[in-house]
Amino acid sequence: MAPTRRGAPVVAALTLGCKLNQAETQAAARVLQQAGCVTVDRPADADAWLINTCSVTHIADRKARRLIRLAKRISPGAPVVVTGCYAQHAGETLLTELGVDVLIPNGRKSEAADAVLRELARTRPNAAGGPSPPEIAERATRSKQRTRAFVKIQEGCDDVCAFCIVPSVRGRERAVPITEIAQQVRRRVAEGVQEIVLTGTQPGAYGRDRGDGANAARLIRALLDETDAPRLRYSSIQPQDITPELLACWDDARLCRHFHLALQSGTDDVLRRMRRRYDAAQFLDAVRTIRAAVPGAAITTDVIVGFPGERDEDFERTYELCREAAFADMHVFPYSPRPRTGAALLEDNVPPQVKRERARRLRELAAEQAREFRAGLIGETLPVLFESAHDGRLNGLTDTYVPVEAEWHGPNPPLNRLLPVRIAGLAGCAGRGRDAPVARAELVTR
Ligand code: F3S
Repeated sequence: MAPTRRGAPVVAALTLGCKLNQAETQAAARVLQQAGCVTVDRPADADAWLINTCSVTHIADRKARRLIRLAKRISPGAPVVVTGCYAQHAGETLLTELGVDVLIPNGRKSEAADAVLRELARTRPNAAGGPSPPEIAERATRSKQRTRAFVKIQEGCDDVCAFCIVPSVRGRERAVPITEIAQQVRRRVAEGVQEIVLTGTQPGAYGRDRGDGANAARLIRALLDETDAPRLRYSSIQPQDITPELLACWDDARLCRHFHLALQSGTDDVLRRMRRRYDAAQFLDAVRTIRAAVPGAAITTDVIVGFPGERDEDFERTYELCREAAFADMHVFPYSPRPRTGAALLEDNVPPQVKRERARRLRELAAEQAREFRAGLIGETLPVLFESAHDGRLNGLTDTYVPVEAEWHGPNPPLNRLLPVRIAGLAGCAGRGRDAPVARAELVTR
């Protein structure tokens, strides 16, 4: 058993995976806070752990297992509640092999916070109230100073791409009604949140399950008209979702000029076998349409290298398409088969060293393109949302998702504020495992 600690129970509420998972963990953390818990979003000695897992690749599975083991090591005896796509996929094995206390499948994820509270009532029945240890309270305050809230607009996916485990762990598409989303956005804005990130498994297809005419364009228009969200981010989209009605929403500067358009492959034959719903020409067309409608837009992408049957010439075509598209950033994934997917039945016939080399070349191109995109901002004046301050520097993001730093030596750094800055140059590396520089900026006003 963990030693009983005085003060409000501390719950480590951790997220692996996508923004949709972040939205769901944030919602659970709010329930826990309302029930009197202190939540931290990093591994910490806690009275209970809530781990929201991902299973998109075998590496995501490994990360989930590692985190569960870490929880058991850092807080021996503290209950560990696990939910999310890896929990869904691994099932009871998790309970037995890793000693997880409660497993919540994806379909009941909204019950995860209640499960944590039940576990706390079981393991800390006589816990005294009062303040938590100062270090934990400080860490919790830091994680509460969030400038960005993730709001779920839909979940599930009806597309069933051949490589993707998501439909089997998230189920069919279910959109949240526009009125409910607007209500949530208003609540977060009233709490002081400056940026709302609209998340989902397939956000571009928002509303197609409802049959009432709801679609992404109507949702975004409603949120712009009916809420005071200072910044709205809606980025993950597929080429076939781009419509004039949707792009017209970007006439409102509160909508971030960032489009995440997953390419996966630049070869029609591979795209067909992946069961994607566009070809290479349609993809490039979507890129051009966005650039014409939204000047300065950042277009980022995902690419899988080494999909079964991907030949050298297929990869070269993908490489050339990426060069032509001039992405602001790329996430490159060497293919690995996922159980219960169509592609798992195909022979994984691209040797690992070939996958590694293709990934290396594309990542090199990604770094070059990210640098070019960021260098193109030099001299511009842009609003930046500052989120943290360290060592005399403020750190924030542009609407195009470029990390920015600006000098600040006074007290009370202007955090959680959208401030205009002039981009003066590039400096250092943005970290996060990518070889791209941060934009260096000067505050225009304070
Ligand atoms: Fe991962 Fe599930 Fe999101 S597999 S990417 S957490 S939908």
